[in-house]
Amino acid sequence: MVPGARTSRDAGQDHRGGYKAPSGTNLQPGRFVVITGSGREAIAAAVRNNWDSNEGLRTMVEQGQTAADKTQRLMLRGAKRLFTQLDLAPVFIIPCLYQVASPTNDPNSLLAGSSIYEAVQNLLLATRALGLGAVLTTFQAGIEPELRELLALPDDTKPAALIPLGFPAANFGPTTRRPVEEVLHWERWAG
Ligand SMILES: Cc1cc2nc3c(=O)[nH]c(=O)nc-3n(C[C@H](O)[C@H](O)[C@H](O)COP(=O)(O)O)c2cc1C
Repeated sequence: MVPGARTSRDAGQDHRGGYKAPSGTNLQPGRFVVITGSGREAIAAAVRNNWDSNEGLRTMVEQGQTAADKTQRLMLRGAKRLFTQLDLAPVFIIPCLYQVASPTNDPNSLLAGSSIYEAVQNLLLATRALGLGAVLTTFQAGIEPELRELLALPDDTKPAALIPLGFPAANFGPTTRRPVEEVLHWERWAG
C-alpha cells in the first residue's frame, strides 16, 4: 500500500458504511479506532517484535514464498510485508467490541465475533469500491496489551481486528476460492 492524501477522509466514509451492519439485538457494540498519526509506528513496531520473536511463524511465511501455488506465494509475500512494514499503510482501523452483550457477553467467543465482523466486511467492501486497499488482519491478537495501552482502550472493549488501509501499490487481481461444489452441502452434510 502507498500513502495518499485522500485516505483519511475515505476512511471516514468507509466507517459510515461499516457501522450500518446488523448486530445481535441491534445493540451496536462496534466501535472503530482510526489511527492516522505516529501511533501507527508504535503499533507497527509491536507487530514487528511479534514477528521477530515467533520463529514458527517466520519459517512458515518464508517457506510459503517458494510454494508451487502462485496465489499462496503472493499471499505470503504480502503477509511478510505486513508483518515487517505495516506502517507503510497511512491509516489503520481497529474495529472493537464495546460492552458486548448480544448474542453473548463473552468477548472472546465466536458468537461475539458475529456482532462485529459484518461491520468489518462492509468496511472491506466499501474500501474496495473506492479503489482503496485494505486487508483484515488478526495482528491485534498478538499485540493486545500494547494496543490497549497505546489506544487507551477501556477494559470492556475488545479489539477484533487490525485493518491497514491505503491506496494499493499494485492492481487487485481476481480472488481465488475453492470450487463451490466443495463447500456446499444440500440438505445434509453427507449424502
Ligand atoms: C479471519 C481472518 C484473518 C486474517 N488474518 C490475516 C493476517 O493476520 N494477515 C494477513 O496478511 N491476512 C490476513 N487475512 C487475509 C487473508 O489472508 C486473505 O483474505 C486471503 O489470503 C484471501 O485473499 P483475497 O481475499 O485477496 O483473495 C485474514 C482474513 C481473515 C478472514
